[in-house]
Amino acid sequence: MTKIRTCLFGLGHMGRNHLRVLQEDARFELVAVIDPVTSALPLAAQPVPLYKQLPDDLSFDLAVVAAPTELHYTLVTSLLNRGHNVFVEKPAASTKGQAAELVALAHKNNLHLAVGNIERCNPVVLALRKVVESGILGRLVHLNGLRAGGFPRNVKAGNNVILDLGVHELDLFRMLLGPIEIVHGVGHSTQESGIYDAAEISVRSKKGVTGTVHVNWLTPQRMRSIRVTGSQGLCLVDYIAQTCELFGHDLQAKSTAFSGFEWKRDAQGLESLSVPVIAKESLKEQLDQLHLYLNGAQHTLAVFDELIESVALVEQAERQVSGAHVLPFHDPHSERG
Ligand SMILES: NC(=O)c1ccc[n+]([C@@H]2O[C@H](COP(=O)([O-])OP(=O)(O)OC[C@H]3O[C@@H](n4cnc5c(N)ncnc54)[C@H](O)[C@@H]3O)[C@@H](O)[C@H]2O)c1
Repeated sequence: MTKIRTCLFGLGHMGRNHLRVLQEDARFELVAVIDPVTSALPLAAQPVPLYKQLPDDLSFDLAVVAAPTELHYTLVTSLLNRGHNVFVEKPAASTKGQAAELVALAHKNNLHLAVGNIERCNPVVLALRKVVESGILGRLVHLNGLRAGGFPRNVKAGNNVILDLGVHELDLFRMLLGPIEIVHGVGHSTQESGIYDAAEISVRSKKGVTGTVHVNWLTPQRMRSIRVTGSQGLCLVDYIAQTCELFGHDLQAKSTAFSGFEWKRDAQGLESLSVPVIAKESLKEQLDQLHLYLNGAQHTLAVFDELIESVALVEQAERQVSGAHVLPFHDPHSERG
């Protein structure tokens, strides 16, 4: 089988993860890494050329882009113009217009373009989809997503917590509910002037299901979870622990979808089940899905309209937040004395 000749752009936090999984996967051949700043590969990496700039004559099939978000649009545009398929880290671009241009360019040049909205590839999301699609929760009523923790280094103007973290949740809500719209948003910039670092966003699906997302870069502990409430039950998912728990009254009598598993029942008759999840690193699953996509098979990655929509939803949310900004940046030095 021909290996997919791959070039990695960006060897920072996320690029190092891509480097590791690409080098562990025999279906991909990592031909080079490009990073204008980083001067050495991690010690555990296999040797591979590391360039400050892409050499003109380097031939490869796939570019994996893990450069800072604000560079995605120009970097992906130049790679698509050079004739390379592209997998770009989330968010695909900083605005809906940029994302739409990238998709149009990929179409025009007959190339593949996918974005790394990685939670789509978290095995626990597969379990959650099974729960939702089984109907065991009854009619879906509300989704509640939480993604918090870790102020990123080197945040540039134009980036914010909605674009950086909210994009995951909005993309997942869209995946679970179909088309959604933003109905409300509030946010704060507490650490750096003009950069939102906490926000709450409310959405509504065409069928009337509602959702709220809380994102922040402030919480010291990383937290990533989603709570799905239906008319008959509740599903709690922790993306980090990869756990998926179902709760409800008489769920086993109402649905056979999860019969044969070890349900618990408390004294009040509340039934619960830890839905089995086959643990797998999401980044490795993402590479499997990318391989399927590049080979024309069915996959779960966000491409084409879904790639644009994930950025479009962020943009709508940013607009809402800018009109309802709550806590402005307050220079801590001004509080002294
Ligand atoms: N999927 C996820 O869960 C996830 C998590 C973290 C970050 N990300 C995304 O990954 C991207 C990178 O984030 P990060 O945390 O790794 O940032 P980072 O700052 O740690 O790394 C970025 C690297 O890109 C390099 N770089 C700068 N310009 C470049 C260029 N023109 N070509 C190639 N490399 C260039 C920098 O020198 C740096 O080493 C961002 O878009 C971010 O949103 C995704």
